[in-house]
Amino acid sequence: MDGKQGEFYKTNRYNNLIKSKKEVKIMKNGKLMIGLIGCGGIANNKHMPALSKLDEKCEMTAFCDIIEKRAVKAKEKYGDADAKIYTDYHELLEDPEIDVIHVLTPNVMHAPIVVDAFAAGKHVMCEKPMSHTASDAKKMVDAWKKSGKKFTIGYQNRFRPEVQMLYNACQKEELGDIYFAKAHAIRRRGVPTWGVFPNKKLQGGGPLIDIGTHALDLTLWMMDNYKPVSVNGSVFYKLGHLQQATEGNKFGSWDPETYEVEDSAFGMVKMENGATIYLEAAWALNVLDAREASTTLCGTKAGAEIRSGMYYDNDELIINRGHNGRLTEEWLSKTGRVAYFDGGNRGEPGYEEALQWLDAILNDTEPYQGISAGISVLGKSGRGETRTGAYGNHTPVGAGETEYCI
Ligand SMILES: NC(=O)c1ccc[n+]([C@@H]2O[C@H](COP(=O)([O-])OP(=O)(O)OC[C@H]3O[C@@H](n4cnc5c(N)ncnc54)[C@H](O)[C@@H]3O)[C@@H](O)[C@H]2O)c1
Repeated sequence: MDGKQGEFYKTNRYNNLIKSKKEVKIMKNGKLMIGLIGCGGIANNKHMPALSKLDEKCEMTAFCDIIEKRAVKAKEKYGDADAKIYTDYHELLEDPEIDVIHVLTPNVMHAPIVVDAFAAGKHVMCEKPMSHTASDAKKMVDAWKKSGKKFTIGYQNRFRPEVQMLYNACQKEELGDIYFAKAHAIRRRGVPTWGVFPNKKLQGGGPLIDIGTHALDLTLWMMDNYKPVSVNGSVFYKLGHLQQATEGNKFGSWDPETYEVEDSAFGMVKMENGATIYLEAAWALNVLDAREASTTLCGTKAGAEIRSGMYYDNDELIINRGHNGRLTEEWLSKTGRVAYFDGGNRGEPGYEEALQWLDAILNDTEPYQGISAGISVLGKSGRGETRTGAYGNHTPVGAGETEYCI
């Protein structure tokens, strides 16, 4: 392996690659050539099925995974006979025919791979969360700006029909000034049991960094407000270690012995204009009102709630307001379940996400999930590591290393 992961771009081998890149014709057969790094859950359940339905715009020509048999299996299902297999992503990035990289690895690998991919002159789709620290996110943004390429993060929930409907209402200011909101990411028992999700070193955090980012992304996007000034929160490590708590888990029992990340986290984010967001995230919590990838918005003209997640048979959008002397509720859509993994089919969020991403590259327009919104939200306690219990005072955003970046 050349150089440390994430620093390959500093080597001469890379400088030569970049120089030669400028002379290379970018697209082969008028299609975008795609390399996928990480061939696990989200690759198989969202990216590869969606991209395979867009074969008039792209080809999946390279598959990389440190577990080689996963890359081989992915090629067999989604690649053509010439598609290449890699176990070292640096080698994949050296292929001048590849235009676009999808980064689908555990969270802590996002930043080094994305930085190297931009240095190699590729467009990059990175899975959420963008990164687990603000400093890594900054490196990714700096590398992107230098590259002149396209960059997007995989928040496919923005493409759900009822989410689109609420976003349009917010754009038209139908809710008025949104001054209070709740970002919901609560599962009663939904601890992921595949991959490395409970591993702090490889994943960077638990439900806050995982499903919390989806809820926060939707909420901030609706509010069109990306200027936090302070945060205050509590992080709990209560159920992850308890054998008894594993009962009824959606994905089967997890191993309490190897569970390292928080099992729930709650925070208040204060924005520069005074608006306040309550953020709740749990993979395991003894509670009945469990919803995720959901938001509640309270505005001066009306309020709105999205209810979604594994306890809802249908995604719901309800707008509430005073009207004709009465308090009213409009149930605007019932459109089917949230598609975290079930994203590959035409019309589904994962397909819509891939379609607009490829079109943004082909037409040189901005991707829908732009990076201008790449801010850090929950600050760590100035005293150090996050622990069970409250942080006390509001921590100014930017005062310390952050818990995650969306
Ligand atoms: N958008 C969503 O709703 C959604 C849902 C699930 C996961 N995700 C995100 O997708 C990412 C991956 O999650 P997953 O569920 O697919 O996990 P996973 O463990 O199933 O898959 C990750 C794959 O990456 C491979 N890998 C690890 N390090 C690598 C490296 N250096 N080079 C190449 N391959 C490497 C692993 O071997 C594994 O096969 C995470 O960031 C996660 O947050 C997003």
